[in-house]
This record gives sequence, C-alpha cells and structure tokens, in this order.
Amino acid sequence: MLNYTTPEEAVRLIESHQRVFIHGSAATPTTLINALAARREELKNVEIVAITTLGPMPLVAPECKGSFFMNSLFVSENVREAVNTDQGGYVPIFLSEIGHLFRNKILSVDVAMVQVSEPDIHGFCSLGTSVDIAKPAVETARIIIAQVNKQMPRTHGDGHIHISKFSAAIYVDEALPEVDYRAKITEKETQIGHHIASLIEDRATLQMGIGAIPDAVLNSLNHHKDLGIHTEMFSNGLLELMKSGAVTNSFKKKHPGKVVAAFATGTADLYRELHDNPEFSFHEAAYVNDTAVIRKNPKVVSINSCLELDLTGQVCADSIGSYHFSGVGGQMDFMRGASLSVGGKPVMALTSTTKKGATKIVPFLKEGAGVVTTRAHMHYVVTEFGIANLYGKNLRQRAYELMRIAHPDHREDLEKAIVKRFGSFIYPFR
Ligand code: COA
Repeated sequence: MLNYTTPEEAVRLIESHQRVFIHGSAATPTTLINALAARREELKNVEIVAITTLGPMPLVAPECKGSFFMNSLFVSENVREAVNTDQGGYVPIFLSEIGHLFRNKILSVDVAMVQVSEPDIHGFCSLGTSVDIAKPAVETARIIIAQVNKQMPRTHGDGHIHISKFSAAIYVDEALPEVDYRAKITEKETQIGHHIASLIEDRATLQMGIGAIPDAVLNSLNHHKDLGIHTEMFSNGLLELMKSGAVTNSFKKKHPGKVVAAFATGTADLYRELHDNPEFSFHEAAYVNDTAVIRKNPKVVSINSCLELDLTGQVCADSIGSYHFSGVGGQMDFMRGASLSVGGKPVMALTSTTKKGATKIVPFLKEGAGVVTTRAHMHYVVTEFGIANLYGKNLRQRAYELMRIAHPDHREDLEKAIVKRFGSFIYPFR
C-alpha cells in the first residue's frame, strides 16, 4: 500500500549540495519540479542532472541561481539559455553510457525524481514513456521521489519499479506533455523522406532520430514490407507506419515481433497506444543503444539529423558554434550500430540550408562546434537535393559528393573552397 504525501513534503527530502536526477521527455515530473523550485530560498548548490525535459523548468529561472545548477546530459529548449551561462553546464556523453556514469559513481545520483504509472496489483509501477536513463538512475539513487500519474501509460519491457523503493510519493492525474514533429514537416523534409525511402529495403530495422525529417521519411514507407523497429525514440510517425501495416518486426533477431524503444515522445494518441501494450518493449538506453545489440538486427537503417556538416563529413549536432543547443544522445550509438549490422545503412539527413538560407554544408565547422559523429562513421548524407555516399571515399571525393547535394545557391562558393583546399585535380578513378 502506497501512502501519498504532498509535493511540498516529498521534496523536503532534498538537501543542499545533493545531485538530483530528473526524469525526462514526456515523463518530466512537473509538479515535483515546481515544488522543488519553491524551496529555492532554503537550498544551495543542488545539482540537477537530466536529458531532455519537457514543459516549464523553473529550476533554471534567474532567481534560482545559486540554489540549483543545471548539469545537462542533453540540452533541451527549456534549459538552453541557462546551460549557456554559469547557471548550468553541458556533459557530452553517449546516451548508451549515461547509465555507466551513474552506476560507476562518476556521476552518482543522490535523489531521483521520477514520474511513474499507478502501481499494479503486485505493487510495481512503470517508468512509462521514458526508461532510457531513468532505470539506472532509480537503481542507483539513495532517495527516490515518485510522481505517480494516473495518465502515465504502463509500458512493457524492463522499466518497472516497486513501490517499496520510494522514499516519498505524490499522486497526480495530469496529461503528459505532447510533441508532434509532424507539424514541422515542409516540402523539403518530404523530399528528403523520398530520397531516404529509396535506401530502405523491405525487412529493414529502423531507428529514427529527433526532428521533422525522421517523421517525413516514415510517410514514404507505407508500401514497404516487414519492417522492424529498434529505436531510441518512438514518435507518432512510427505509430502511423505501424498502422499502415508496413511493420511486422518479424525479421528482427532481437525481440522479434516487438517494437523496442528507450523512450517515447508524441501526442496523447501515442501515449494511449503504449498503455499495457505488449507489442512495445521499453528498455534502458545502455541496452537499446548498445552497438552489440543494434548490429544483431538485419539491415539496420539509422536516420539522424544535424546542425552542420563539413565537406569532409564531420557532423556537428549538439552546438551552433560554441552555443550548446542539443546533445550527443544516441546518434553515434546508432550510426555505428547500423554500419555494423548486415546490410545496415547509417543515414545523416539535413535540409541543405537553415531557415535563414545559410548553408549547413560548410567548408569548415563553426568555431567551437562539437563533432558528434566523426567522418569515419559516415556513410549516407541526404538533403532535399539528393544522396551522397561518403563511405570509402577520400576527403576530396567527399567534398565533391557533398557539394553536389548542397543548395545550388552555395555550390559555387563550396567549389571554390574545395579547390583552395584540395587543388583543382578531380579524382579520376571509379
Ligand atoms: N547554423 C545556425 N542555426 C542553425 C543551423 C546552423 N547550421 N542549423 C540549424 N539551425 C537552427 C535552425 O534554424 C533552428 O532554429 P529555430 O529553432 O529558431 O527554428 C534550430 O537550429 C533547430 O534546427 P532544426 O533543423 O529545426 O532542428 P531539428 O529539430 O531537425 O533537430 C538536431 C536537429 C541536430 C538538433 C537534432 O537532430 C538533435 O538534437 N540531434 C542530436 C542527437 C541525436 O541525433 N539523437 C538521435 C537519437 S534519438
């Protein structure tokens, strides 16, 4: 039997100088966060660790400086400003290795604040939409504060926690935050989607990254057959693809018949679909994103996006120059895992220009830009202007391949940069 307390009482367990993990994505425990922020006058130097959180984040408000420090493992919009000041910091880390940081006390967690489903008859709650790094956090934290939400779906897989582990629990009946990447799809993303669809064979196993492009690809796959899904993030686009009948998961070697994911972000429809649905299996990122697990599936196609790409194929995805924008996440885990899988294809997809018309394919990355995926990991790059395959190509060849799929307005400048760097000699062999 779980005795619920008030949010104010629950967060009293947190002391100054502790490290507090906050559950992410749709599972962000907003009521507990608000209660913790209200203690800003009493607390000093509480370090918050989290990946993407959704909704308001009062812990990074200017008046919280000195009380809370946001040490981000993946920068989301609500903490971006703070992380780029001395109110926060950014830890570049593979999503697959965050559990390692917690378990090996490289970043030991004192308190985990999580949002879970209601307990079942055996007293187990589900970590719901976000098992990813929440599982290692609750397994290692000394104190667990739970926000039990009537509306959190009970997901199948590995993300279960018994009520006896909770130091305090509150009860809420609140809608989860919604994100719909499909709303951002324009003609350009649709075009990119068509190109990528041409690379995907029947019986491929799909991983989809963050943003509008992955969902645009999915719109082009309705006529494919026997696709499988093994992905870090599950979103509405994948749900629609499942409804089209193109997904059977029959040919996957790991968890055949099931969709494997680490977290899900989407709309209320998606959350409803996940509830108590054995077709989905949620696991921690250390497992889902393990290249040794990913590579066991056939024809893994990993589709990710980036902010900037240099002419040799170096990918910047976590910063705009030195401004921390996003995170490493599972991009490298899956790009590598896909290339190791038999028939696998790692794909980097980007619109050729920013909304303001600047080219994203550049001679050199901006000063301070962080490389998330190295040029040695790169195979396919796709823009609305076509597909470039960099694998096995020298730097000069890559530069020409990438120039070909850059925006026409920028090709001349890019060619000048290529000639300046590599000379005018064009590699003559096949
Ligand atoms: N220079 C300046 N600004 C740029 C830029 C560039 N080269 N490229 C993008 N931007 C701006 C855009 O204009 C946009 O601005 P806005 O928010 O004001 O509209 C913003 O940066 C985001 O760009 P967009 O292309 O819309 O991003 P996205 O939603 O498609 O996401 C990433 C792209 C790279 C941020 C995202 O894929 C990511 O976080 N990747 C890293 C982690 C990862 O790949 N995980 C995969 C496993 S789930």
